[in-house]
Amino acid sequence: PSILSADFTCLGKEVQTVEKAGADWIHVDVMDGHFVPNITMGPLIVEAVRRTTSLKVDVHLMIDRPERYVADFVSAGADYLSVQVEACVHLHRCIHQIKELGAKAGAVLNPATGLNTIDYLLEDLDFVLIMSVNPGFGGQKFIASSLDKIKELRKNIDQKNLSTLIQIDGGVNTDTIASIAAAGVDVFVAGSAIFNTEDYRKTIDRLRRRI
Ligand code: DX5
Ligand code: ZN
Repeated sequence: PSILSADFTCLGKEVQTVEKAGADWIHVDVMDGHFVPNITMGPLIVEAVRRTTSLKVDVHLMIDRPERYVADFVSAGADYLSVQVEACVHLHRCIHQIKELGAKAGAVLNPATGLNTIDYLLEDLDFVLIMSVNPGFGGQKFIASSLDKIKELRKNIDQKNLSTLIQIDGGVNTDTIASIAAAGVDVFVAGSAIFNTEDYRKTIDRLRRRI
């Protein structure tokens, strides 16, 4: 679950409720008002989420020059940390910086960004996040061309015999998740599809059944 769509007046309770409802990781969307138009949360919230759950905390940085902040987010408790390839000039260095800090490192590709941007980095990545909406907001419509990108990435990873995880983020819901799973995704991020429903357990069960 992406907490971007959670009720921030009771964030701890929201996180605990999705944990009890069967979530595997908690996804935290960090936005800086530069790389994306929206501004959201920083290390302080990651640290609060860390204290409230035993689940893995997955931090998605939608910020310019993320290398400036990766150490802060790992210290705050990020288990998985991903940076946008478009925002990072020295991506290879940044990915290794994250791994040296002891977190799992991911590269994120916007819908218009090609897989070629990670051709020489795939072996080093713990996960690749394919954005299926333009980052910045929850509740947007799934961009269908991401399915071809996932299939191609799945093929590349399998051909090279790598254990790199494929993650998808944006517009994941009960209507879209089956075709996303069939394309070869390992990790599904869903914000509004979970937090905008009454019963998180029922929703997560339904999503899992579709997978
Ligand atoms: C979008 C964020 C997503 C967002 C997804 O920029 O990276 O994680 O929370 O929201 P939904 O699942 O509502 O599309
Ligand atoms: Zn995200």
